[in-house]
Amino acid sequence: MGAEDVKFRYPLDDIRTKTDIVELISTYVSIKRSGKSLKALCPFHTEKTPSFIVNEDLQRWRCYGCGEYGDVFTFLMKIENITFSEAVQELAKRAGITIQRSPAEGKWENDREKLLHINNAAASYFSQALLAAPHAMAYLHKRGVSQESIVKYSLGYAPEDWRALAGYLTSKRIDLRDAEKAGLVIKSDKGSGYYDRFRNRIIFPIQDVTGKNIAFGGRAIGDEQPKYLNSPESPAFAKNKTLYGLNHARKSIAQEDRAIIVEGYLDALTAQCAGFSNTVATMGTALTPEHVNLLSRYTHTAVIAFDSDSAGMSATLRSAPMFEQAGFDVRVLCMPPGNDPDSLLREGKASEFTRLVTEAMPVVEYRLKLLQDSSDLKSDQGKVEMLKKASAILADVASAVERDRYIRGLAQYHPNFSGGATRAEEQIRRDVDNQVTARGRASSRSPQMPRETAKPDAVKSRPSALTLAERCLLKAMIMDPIWGPKVIAELPPEQFATSQGITLASAIANRLAAEKGMAWNDLAEDLAGTEAADLLSELSIADSGPDITAQAVEDCLKRLKIHWKRQRLKDLAARVEQGEIRSSDEEFAEYWRLVQELHNTV
Ligand code: UTP
Ligand code: MN
Repeated sequence: MGAEDVKFRYPLDDIRTKTDIVELISTYVSIKRSGKSLKALCPFHTEKTPSFIVNEDLQRWRCYGCGEYGDVFTFLMKIENITFSEAVQELAKRAGITIQRSPAEGKWENDREKLLHINNAAASYFSQALLAAPHAMAYLHKRGVSQESIVKYSLGYAPEDWRALAGYLTSKRIDLRDAEKAGLVIKSDKGSGYYDRFRNRIIFPIQDVTGKNIAFGGRAIGDEQPKYLNSPESPAFAKNKTLYGLNHARKSIAQEDRAIIVEGYLDALTAQCAGFSNTVATMGTALTPEHVNLLSRYTHTAVIAFDSDSAGMSATLRSAPMFEQAGFDVRVLCMPPGNDPDSLLREGKASEFTRLVTEAMPVVEYRLKLLQDSSDLKSDQGKVEMLKKASAILADVASAVERDRYIRGLAQYHPNFSGGATRAEEQIRRDVDNQVTARGRASSRSPQMPRETAKPDAVKSRPSALTLAERCLLKAMIMDPIWGPKVIAELPPEQFATSQGITLASAIANRLAAEKGMAWNDLAEDLAGTEAADLLSELSIADSGPDITAQAVEDCLKRLKIHWKRQRLKDLAARVEQGEIRSSDEEFAEYWRLVQELHNTV
């Protein structure tokens, strides 16, 4: 059945008017109101400043970053990766509209819908069964899970029986071949029957962001192995794209602009209930780029809070770069040995967990800590070996200023430390610099593997967030006389990010100083023959960017200012290193001010 046939029979307009586009989209991304417009970080590409606009009046959305646009149906299609007809049916269902179907279409349009239906039936069976299983209840209570949590997370119990669920599903006229696809029953080797996958286990329904039961995790009540048994992958469940607890956590992740990532079901559940409602779990698997992508709809700050065992540590070291590549500020929370978030919080140590979250450290610091913990720092040889490995870690740090900060902390381990901290620091710095140079050489020899991760072409050809911000400011100054003086006062033309931007901003500033108007034509005349002429005509094309609001101007100013400061610091640092700037110079004072100001952001 093609989309065209569907359009004829489906009451699309009716569904559209009964669907609140803002509510629909905010299930997936956090929408912020700024002035008259509604904006979000685009869920379809990676970005740090919102260029995804929702138009309530037209019931449409558009992303100015990646160019995607559409209505409620296309949004759901794209984000859930479903067909048009599935999107129509889903939205019709939510809007309470019944769609007439021909008998030939059958009751269920597709596998996924069917599996979700079966999972719902199973979930309600499991929660009934929990009420009838005192030992399972006792287990949950012993682990500190409250009655409210049992309800909130729809916890259940799979009886110790080979055919309990199979029998129930059959009684609901569900074909066990379909239940097998959902991973709930397994075909028996002998005969033609099916038996239950989950037996005598506490059931954690795994839900997607919209709260649909897409799979189950079952915890053994005793010592049976495996400790947790999970549903297999199915058309409804992709483990690498699912984070347990995200449906409950997404709002606070967006509000707090930070996500805490833990390993286990109970870690997420306990943390959320203890007030850390922005917690999600990876369900024991390694974190994947898909997980990171999913989280980036809500935040770009992550705190990794994996177990303190060696598996947890190596998972942390593998996960952190994925976050960094996606532009996250990522911190590592160091669990006390032998604890996981659940056990720590169950001991009533919410305040300690809060402290650990606050003190979560940058990844480099974490790597240095692991190195020092595993080194023999009592012997000179141990210290020297540690410093050698530390230099390799520090060579990964892009900023020389930040490297210096760590070097100062390491100097005490240097054999020459007694001869003065400065000398020890210099020697470590030389080591680190050698490694940085060696890597620079290695990477220029193999250009196919640059050290700074190369962005895919698609990303490169799109305007960067920085140039978008620059354009937004320029356009604001041209379109509305209130912005010019403010922007130029806070960001002088030479501090704009691109050379075209600097030229255009200077022209604007000149007109402002001469109290001349800001008509497009006049500006075009001023700029004729300069490199900024193209930029100006690009900006004059209607609809070339997000709405200009006070908030947008504020955000763009902030972005450009920090960019300029970073550039300035880089420049000053190089000149300080070359000995061109001395500590009595005014520029040195500026250098130090910037070092301190940017300390946490470089
Ligand atoms: P852990 O072994 O750390 O267990 O596995 P846990 O979460 O602390 O569980 P409790 O507190 O003993 O009940 C972390 C996560 O890894 C997945 C589960 O999602 C679990 O929550 N896992 C673990 C499995 O999928 N299978 C297993 O056999 C073990
Ligand atoms: Mn645990």
